[in-house]
Amino acid sequence: MSEQNLTEKIGLLDMKRMPRHVAIIMDGNGRWARQRERERSEGHAEGVNSVNRITRISSDLGIRYLTLYAFSTENWNRPQAEVETLMHLIGWTIRKETPDLVKNNVRIHLLGDTERLPKEVQKSLYDGVRATAHCTGLNLLLCLSYSSRWELTQTTKLISGLVKKGEINPEDITEETIAAHLSTKDIPDPDLLIRTGGEERISNFLLWQIAYSELYFTPVLWPDFDNNAYIDALIEYQTRERRFGKTSEQVSATNNNNN
Ligand code: IPE
Ligand code: IPE
Ligand code: MG
Repeated sequence: MSEQNLTEKIGLLDMKRMPRHVAIIMDGNGRWARQRERERSEGHAEGVNSVNRITRISSDLGIRYLTLYAFSTENWNRPQAEVETLMHLIGWTIRKETPDLVKNNVRIHLLGDTERLPKEVQKSLYDGVRATAHCTGLNLLLCLSYSSRWELTQTTKLISGLVKKGEINPEDITEETIAAHLSTKDIPDPDLLIRTGGEERISNFLLWQIAYSELYFTPVLWPDFDNNAYIDALIEYQTRERRFGKTSEQVSATNNNNN
């Protein structure tokens, strides 16, 4: 798609109804490589270009939070060589991209059991977090060695510890207590969850936080997910009516009062 056509397509977006938080399950790198009779690692390397592209356009569009599922707890079970390649790629990418992220005012956050990552990858990541800590534009949440059940288990341990110390009564635990002890505390729930690669499943991602997210599944493989495909997802999101359990009439009445 030409630059001009893309600009026209962006013009179709209603800037007042942009999602505040987009979460993406970046899937399909392996299949992208297989289609070209190339190594899976080349699919992952190509996927990095999509990460950079989607981060950049999200920032340009004024999206506040972009959460990327880059490596799941279950991905540790892949062949060791693939895990090593992915770890190397993650460390290398973050080191290479940090100066541009700073320039674009993007702040990095980490979600997941990062202690399990190789030491040098941890260092690159924490350096990236520190270098971008002052940035006030897009918040880029990288999920690494992350799974929602791991996160909910951590949260349960944290809250149980507070109960044990007598700081919280079990009967005072509310949904807000739980939300405040997740790794996404202070971050609004995703408005839109995109999964590339054609599978229609969640694969242990943000189970608590996506309770009311709009889900968008696309067959496009992650390395092929370009700005055009992303704008398609955002346009589709804007056609959805988010009712949060209410009736359509109630939602229209609220929208009319707010306009
Ligand atoms: C997503 O692509 C990247 C990671 C899970 C790290 P895959 O590697 O899962 O690609 P497919 O699903 O095999 O095509
Ligand atoms: C989900 O992709 C995890 C990430 C994108 C990091 P997978 O390829 O691991 O998911 P499954 O195994 O097909 O469910
Ligand atoms: Mg996959």
